[in-house]
Amino acid sequence: MMERMETLMKSSFDHSYFDSDAARTAFQTALLDWYDRQGRDLPWRYKGGEKPDPYRVWLSEVMLQQTTIATVKDYFERFTAKWPSLKAFTTADEDEVLALWSGLGYYSRARNLYKAGQILKDDYDYQFPESLEGLKSLPGIGDYTAAAICAIAFNKQASVMDGNIERVLSRLFQIEDKLPKAKRIFKDYADYISADPLGRHGDFAQAMMDLGATICTPKQPKCLLCPVREFCVAGPKGNAEAYPKKEAKKKKPKRYAKAIVIFNETDNAVLMRKRPTSGLLANLYEVPTTPWLDAKKDLKGQGYGRDELNRLDVKKGVGAVKHSFTHFDFFIDVFSYSGMLALSDDEIWVPLNRFEDFGIPTLMKKIIYHALKSDEA
Ligand code: ADE
Repeated sequence: MMERMETLMKSSFDHSYFDSDAARTAFQTALLDWYDRQGRDLPWRYKGGEKPDPYRVWLSEVMLQQTTIATVKDYFERFTAKWPSLKAFTTADEDEVLALWSGLGYYSRARNLYKAGQILKDDYDYQFPESLEGLKSLPGIGDYTAAAICAIAFNKQASVMDGNIERVLSRLFQIEDKLPKAKRIFKDYADYISADPLGRHGDFAQAMMDLGATICTPKQPKCLLCPVREFCVAGPKGNAEAYPKKEAKKKKPKRYAKAIVIFNETDNAVLMRKRPTSGLLANLYEVPTTPWLDAKKDLKGQGYGRDELNRLDVKKGVGAVKHSFTHFDFFIDVFSYSGMLALSDDEIWVPLNRFEDFGIPTLMKKIIYHALKSDEA
C-alpha cells in the first residue's frame, strides 16, 4: 500500500497541490468549513456533532445505492415513520418491507434489508457491528455501504467511494486512468485524501458527496464557487468536464416479452401473480407475461404460463412499454383484456386502490397504467 502511494505521489501527485500532510489538512479544513455552512440538510443527516442512529444511516445508504436523493427522501420518511428504530423494523415481515419499497427499484436491496434486520436481531442484539468486515458480512452491505456506515454512523476512518466522490477525485488530481477499470487507483487517492480529517470522518465523507452533487457536477461544474478550487488541478484549467475519464460503454442488450393486463371491472382489480422466489424481481407481483426472450421474433406462439390464460381471446393490443434494467432494455407488448376468470393458486385480483399494499415493481405499474389508459382512450 505504501509503495503504491509513493508511486502515486511521484506521478500524478507531482502535478497536484498535495505536497505535504499540511496541504491535505488545509484541504480538509476548507471542505469541512464549507460543509458546516453549506452542507445539505437531509432527513437522515446529523449535523453539528449529533450522535447518529446507525439504523437510519444504514437505511438511507441502502436506499441511496442506486437512487437519487430527491426520490429517497420520501421513502426514507415513510420507512422511519412506520419503523422508527431497528427494533421496530425487525417486527415487519418481508412482504411489508417490499410493499413500502415498491417503486424504488432494485428490490434485492429491500429483501436484504429485511434479512440483515433479522440477523441483527438474532445474532447481534440489535447492535450494528462497527468494523468494515463485520458490516460486510450482512446481506446487502458491500464496500461502499460498509465504508459509509463506518464513517457516518461510527465516525471511523473509511474511504467512501461513490460516483460523486470519484468525480471530485478525478478532477482534483486530474486522474487520467479510466473508470471503472481504475477503481483500485481511485481508492488509493480516496484513502489518501480522507486520512485523518480533523477527527470528522462522517462529516468529511458527506462533505465530499455534497461537493460532488452540488458544485463538482458532471456538467457545468461551478468551479468559481468551489471551496477547494485552490487545490484542484483540472478545474482551474477549465478542464473539469473532461473528467472522470471513462471506458467506452458496451451497448445494452435488449429483451422482449408480451404481457397481458386482465381487468376485472366488478372489483376494479387486475389479475396478478407472485414471481418466483429468486432471480430478477423475486417475490414481487407481476401481470402474466410470456417468457422474456432475446429476440422479438421468438415471441410468436409463446403463452402466459397456464392454459386458460393462453386461450383468452385478447383482442386489444395496446402498444409497447419500454423499461431499462441495469443489464438490459426491456420491450413489452401489452395486451388488454376485460373480464372475470377463475384464479389459479398463485394468482390474485389486486384492486387498483390497493397497489401500495403490495410489492408491485415500477415495470408492472407502467404496463398496467399503459393498458388502462389505452382502455379509456
Ligand atoms: N449519497 C449516498 N449517501 C449519501 C449521503 N449520506 N449524503 C449525501 N449523498 C449521499
